[in-house]
Amino acid sequence: MVDPLGVALGVALTAIAVALHYTKGTGWEAPDDISQEVLERRAAAVPETDFPEPMNRSIGGGGAAAIPAGGAEGELEEGEAEEEEEGFDPSAISDDEVEYYEVEFVNEGETIEVANNEPILDAGEDEGWDLPYACRQGQCVSCAGQIQDGPAEDYIRHSQNESLFEDDMEDGYCLTCVAYPVDDFTIKTGEQP
Ligand code: FES
Repeated sequence: MVDPLGVALGVALTAIAVALHYTKGTGWEAPDDISQEVLERRAAAVPETDFPEPMNRSIGGGGAAAIPAGGAEGELEEGEAEEEEEGFDPSAISDDEVEYYEVEFVNEGETIEVANNEPILDAGEDEGWDLPYACRQGQCVSCAGQIQDGPAEDYIRHSQNESLFEDDMEDGYCLTCVAYPVDDFTIKTGEQP
């Protein structure tokens, strides 16, 4: 026996399917590839930096957090930037600017005079002492010593420092291969942070 309800339902569904088939669409069409446009918009939204492309925009998508070139915030003062990049240059000290400071070497039990354009390490070696070192370029900590009088920055200047943190220097540590005296002090060589 034929179920009239089933027949009615079947007819209704068929009618809906036919109607949908002939109904016009919304007119929407899939756009062409917009990836380039998206990239350009994103690039325009990210501030320019001094880093070479594409690094500035590829790091974690965090270009927006980068320091804008010439921006007021986060910009180093000119002098500061130079100091940061180049460090202290001992060769810029002219002959009449050379000064000498008393540096006491605890382990060697002697005090010597060190010029402000001579690394602590070199001055010690000139005495014939076998002091520790490796790179002689401020890139390791083999030559480190600890100034006994206070924060290192009060007594020496580094021409280059790629190894010590500010806290280490606060504790008196310095890299003797690139450290130049600016005052008298006592140092214990072979001490690393
Ligand atoms: S020898 Fe490497 S930092 Fe001085």
